[in-house]
Amino acid sequence: MSPSNLVLEKLVEYISTNEIKQNIKPVFKTDDFALYNVDSLALMNRFSDNYVDMIFADPPYLLSNDGFTCQNGRMVSVNKGNWDKSNGFDNDLVFHEAWIKECRRILKPEGTIWISGTYHSIYQCGYLLQKHKFHLLNDIAWFKPNASPNLSCRFFTASHETILWARKDKKAKHYFNYEAMKNGKFPEDSLKKPDNQMRSVWSIPTTSQSEKEFGKHLTQKPLALLKRIILASTKPEDIIFDPFCGSGTTGIASTIIGNRKFIGCDINKEYTDLTIKRYNAVKQNGFPSLFNY
Ligand SMILES: C[S@@+](CC[C@H](N)C(=O)[O-])C[C@H]1O[C@@H](n2cnc3c(N)ncnc32)[C@H](O)[C@@H]1O
Repeated sequence: MSPSNLVLEKLVEYISTNEIKQNIKPVFKTDDFALYNVDSLALMNRFSDNYVDMIFADPPYLLSNDGFTCQNGRMVSVNKGNWDKSNGFDNDLVFHEAWIKECRRILKPEGTIWISGTYHSIYQCGYLLQKHKFHLLNDIAWFKPNASPNLSCRFFTASHETILWARKDKKAKHYFNYEAMKNGKFPEDSLKKPDNQMRSVWSIPTTSQSEKEFGKHLTQKPLALLKRIILASTKPEDIIFDPFCGSGTTGIASTIIGNRKFIGCDINKEYTDLTIKRYNAVKQNGFPSLFNY
């Protein structure tokens, strides 16, 4: 077993054998992929300090409070599940602060964190990143050219999400694959011009049906988005952690890119089951064509 495989192995062992706390075992594990079906705070609590290289966090947007939105031309409830219910401004802030503080502890000084969200949650997360002395690097506007129309016609049609990118330590040097971002191919993005620097507005369509063949997750991110994030901010052998991994998009993109270690966590079993199906399919059938570029 290579030294980097041992890194992941040791983490799993540490989580499983810490005698003071209840055992937490992965529901799925390979040499480069470990998946947990628990509350992410309980899991992070077992990580040692300065352990992971990159965190992608897509926390609940906390907007499932009985509103309506438009999907494929139909009025549908915004409710995604109990995990997405707001408990009021102050309690939501407490929730976000707890996981962001733990992310800071487990991130290496030169490590970076990405947090994705809409206006319902991203301002609280951005405030907390600043409060806890992260160094903000970018706020990416993920523009969705095919976003659903606004049925009420009383305000603008929401067609982007914000993804914050921050480094743990202001003085440390983070990794950025400038070349891959400038010269890589991004055929899904009508805004990216060949040989031009990658800008902070990314045009990427919402998740296609072909990426949902094993089941639906209502906030599943497109693989093209995670491909870009992982290529931009991680090196071979890096450890990537996703505390709210849902259908596992971060882990699937990381597996397809290869040479990375992924640790993911979701509190809902139906989503960890979905992630396992997606992982097995990629291993058996190969990967989507967007990764050929
Ligand atoms: C916005 S979704 C993430 C979607 C994911 N990026 C994807 O591409 O599928 C947030 C996820 O967080 C999970 N979740 C909510 N609270 C959690 C908690 N305390 N610990 C772990 N997972 C949690 C939910 O089950 C949900 O799948």
